Amino acid sequence: MLGRFITFEGGEGCGKSTQASLLSAYLQNKCIKTVLTKEPGGTPEGQILRQLLVTGDKDKFDAISECLLYCADRRNHLNKVVWPEMKKGKWVISDRYADSTEAYQYYGYEKRVDFATLQGLYKIVAGDFKPDLTFILDIEPEKGMRRSFAKAQTMEVKELRFESRQIEFHHNLRQGFLEIAKRDPERCVVINADAAIEEIHRRIVETVTEKFGI
Ligand code: TMP
Repeated sequence: MLGRFITFEGGEGCGKSTQASLLSAYLQNKCIKTVLTKEPGGTPEGQILRQLLVTGDKDKFDAISECLLYCADRRNHLNKVVWPEMKKGKWVISDRYADSTEAYQYYGYEKRVDFATLQGLYKIVAGDFKPDLTFILDIEPEKGMRRSFAKAQTMEVKELRFESRQIEFHHNLRQGFLEIAKRDPERCVVINADAAIEEIHRRIVETVTEKFGI
């Protein structure tokens, strides 16, 4: 595939949406065509799945149902946005991708989903396809949650289903993201997200410049 695939990951309120937009604008300034997208909800069908997944009672789905729904959204997103845009040579930047499933549905729920099953599902959805680069924005869950609840005040539909889980869930998924980064250091870069927006952006640009030689 011609384009690149860069993903942003992290817990609630880590600032990844802001950083994904800033990176996209930076690359466009360099005359690189980008597509800014997200999971869940990067397609019209995905928006409906997003609505189901991020609102309402925290216990309405168990970890396995959630895995399957996120996988359905991912497959559709790959088919309709990520792969076609990459084929056109665009750099696709996604606010969340598969590491979120591992962090939330596996580590968050204390490994209640079998790891081999999770990997098998990923293979069905994406085969051997992987992001070229993943930024993991790391922040203390308490701080991130405060930001997330503050942001929700301005939202018409409150997307707080995961925020309403116990803080332990968020500590587990934070450790999960760090495990993922340790396992795949070629692809993943952990960034301290408890810093100024400009400083985080500077580190991201530095990494992208080094990695892709732009
Ligand atoms: P967002 O608020 O960062 O857009 O993400 C939506 C929520 O969905 C967030 O609470 C994390 C959660 N999520 C998962 O639990 N598993 C996944 O695979 C993805 C992509 C998101």
